Amino acid sequence: MSETLRLDATNSEQVEQAAQLLLQGKLVAVPTETVYGLAADASQPAAVQQIFVAKGRPADHPLIVHLADAKAMQDWAKNIPAVAWQLAEAFWPGPLTLLVAKADHVSPVVTGGLDSIGLRVPAHPVLLKLLQQHQLAVAAPSANRYKKLSPTSAEQVLHGLAGRIEAVLDGGDCQFGLESTIVSVLGDTVEILRAGPISQADLEEVLGCEVRHPQQHQVKVAGNVKAHYQPNTPLQCLPYAELVQYLQADTTAKIAVLHRQALPPALQHFSHHQLPADAHAFGQQLYRSLFAADQTGAELILLEMPPHSAEWAAVQERLARAVHQ
Ligand code: TXA
Ligand code: MG
Repeated sequence: MSETLRLDATNSEQVEQAAQLLLQGKLVAVPTETVYGLAADASQPAAVQQIFVAKGRPADHPLIVHLADAKAMQDWAKNIPAVAWQLAEAFWPGPLTLLVAKADHVSPVVTGGLDSIGLRVPAHPVLLKLLQQHQLAVAAPSANRYKKLSPTSAEQVLHGLAGRIEAVLDGGDCQFGLESTIVSVLGDTVEILRAGPISQADLEEVLGCEVRHPQQHQVKVAGNVKAHYQPNTPLQCLPYAELVQYLQADTTAKIAVLHRQALPPALQHFSHHQLPADAHAFGQQLYRSLFAADQTGAELILLEMPPHSAEWAAVQERLARAVHQ
């Protein structure tokens, strides 16, 4: 494949072009409210297969299928429990992926050979309308090379995948900037498998029962690897005081600093960027800031460790994997 087309999500003809490419079995990166997804028509296994090639992702890693509406769950899943409908009703369109039993006809290419399937209705208005108008379901992992940072803009998609995919539909910066919350409703209890924008408290409020969030969950999924979401530059997270000490110890080091509290003036010659204090805004900017820090030519990215309270769960989960060497 040669050049990747850049299509504009504010131009209806170009959105239609993206839809036609998907229907032809081509790969198109699409905006969602979480991160950009690398989409293929989920009903064409040969097209879905290409996703793994473009990303360099092992074939046994399951994909999320993005639906036009909750009703379409029936086309892709079977034995759907009442809690799944309840959560879909409360949070779709939105950043929640439900793991349910896959329908018999669904190709193992989509589910990485598993009997379960991840489903969600995305909230990006342009993508949602495209899916609805064409009664389309698209399989889409995050639109990054395997183990790298998830893209939150069309530029970042192109940085990793230019020349490897047919097109990117540029829908601007993503609203949440972190991947969806993944919830399994396969067993007797409801379990969070990946923290995300929808919190444990949000889920419990809707269901009126306990939702589990096991640290080391039992579901052995190939995609659940330790090293993930990594910038190319090594990343270290330190509490503010230690971070300052580290920088003071070697003021000539090539370090890119991502901090929440202001840096002392004597340290402001380091390439640095201040992230928001608020968890939601921080999450929205995290990948973008790591991506930018990666471009500075620094030998190390130092990030001020954010709090460990519940509202930071999604961020902390990403950071734990991003620093893993
Ligand atoms: O926000 C998101 O979820 C984004 C946007 C594009 O929708 N997608 C995304 O996909 O993050 P991906 O493939 O990068 O991450 C999906 C995760 C993987 O770790 C995969 O292993 C897990 O979901 N997953 C998907 N289907 C599964 C299944 N049937 N059982 C267990 N885990 C599953
Ligand atoms: Mg991913």
